[in-house]
Amino acid sequence: MVDRPNRPVALATTPGLPPQPQVNISHGNSRVSAVLPSGESVEVLLHGATITSWKDRFGTQKLWLSDAAKLDGTKAVRGGIPLVFPVFGTAPDHAATSKLPQHGFARNSRWEFLGKSSSESAGPSDASVKLDFGLSSANLDDQVKSLWPYTFSLIYSVTLTPENLSTNIVVTNDGNEPFEFQVLLHTYLRIKDIAKIQVTGLDNSEYVDKVDGAQTKTQAGAVSITGETDRVYTPAGGPSVPVVVEEDGEAVFRVVRDNLKDVVVWNPWTDKAAGIGDFEPKDGYKNMICIEAGSVNGWVTLDSKDAFEGAQTISD
Ligand code: BG6
Repeated sequence: MVDRPNRPVALATTPGLPPQPQVNISHGNSRVSAVLPSGESVEVLLHGATITSWKDRFGTQKLWLSDAAKLDGTKAVRGGIPLVFPVFGTAPDHAATSKLPQHGFARNSRWEFLGKSSSESAGPSDASVKLDFGLSSANLDDQVKSLWPYTFSLIYSVTLTPENLSTNIVVTNDGNEPFEFQVLLHTYLRIKDIAKIQVTGLDNSEYVDKVDGAQTKTQAGAVSITGETDRVYTPAGGPSVPVVVEEDGEAVFRVVRDNLKDVVVWNPWTDKAAGIGDFEPKDGYKNMICIEAGSVNGWVTLDSKDAFEGAQTISD
């Protein structure tokens, strides 16, 4: 073989891009799902921008979703993470929201998928994805608009990383007059056995006990669930102190909040679950606990052109 001094050499192999998160829109443009290269996944229904599934890398579901949940847009979803806005429960004495249905209209409105962004990732194990959803007064149907006639926009961002799930809500007042609202991320966490659960991070905190005449009480120690529980806590430690769900003494969920001062702890127990048509199986209350980060004790006032931002991050 002739030796050629300037013989071309093979190009060094260009390293391929690391695997990226995959985002899919399915079910006739009504659901958005994302899977990370490391295996974690999330699914969001455009109806209510409700998160209906969050799985870890082993495919284990972290959220509780009722077997009878309606996912076709005819009803608010029973389970996952519905978004409560602009009223928590009903507020017959609050003129501006008194006509709205329980927990407002956001969970029952069709949101727009605004797009995805992925993080710069050095390798498959640290890629994350952010999905953005929007709802504004312009998208509401006339009947809903007539019940709450303010000009607003909501941007809801769902960020999945290998370590956690974050949900961030921005409320903007696009109108010329102030409005008041409440907002809540109504998270149904999936657990193995409610009898083995303790919730910490609420010690010394005041709460409104909705199953005991809305009395204000103070939490002493960890919270155990032994019957119907419906409490609005304002944690004494503030948003950055995690509210931790422990099962059999082991932390299974940590919820850290940003600018969401309240935490609702809800479990319907036997009788209430029996009376909720779309709560199935009826003994499913043993496998769920709602830890709901929000601003619901009192009202947030938003001046014209101002914005409010609140968020939660859930990890295990
Ligand atoms: C909780 C409330 O946030 O949501 C409870 O504190 C309520 O009072 C529960 O029962 C479920 O509400 P809904 O409207 O989804 O049945």
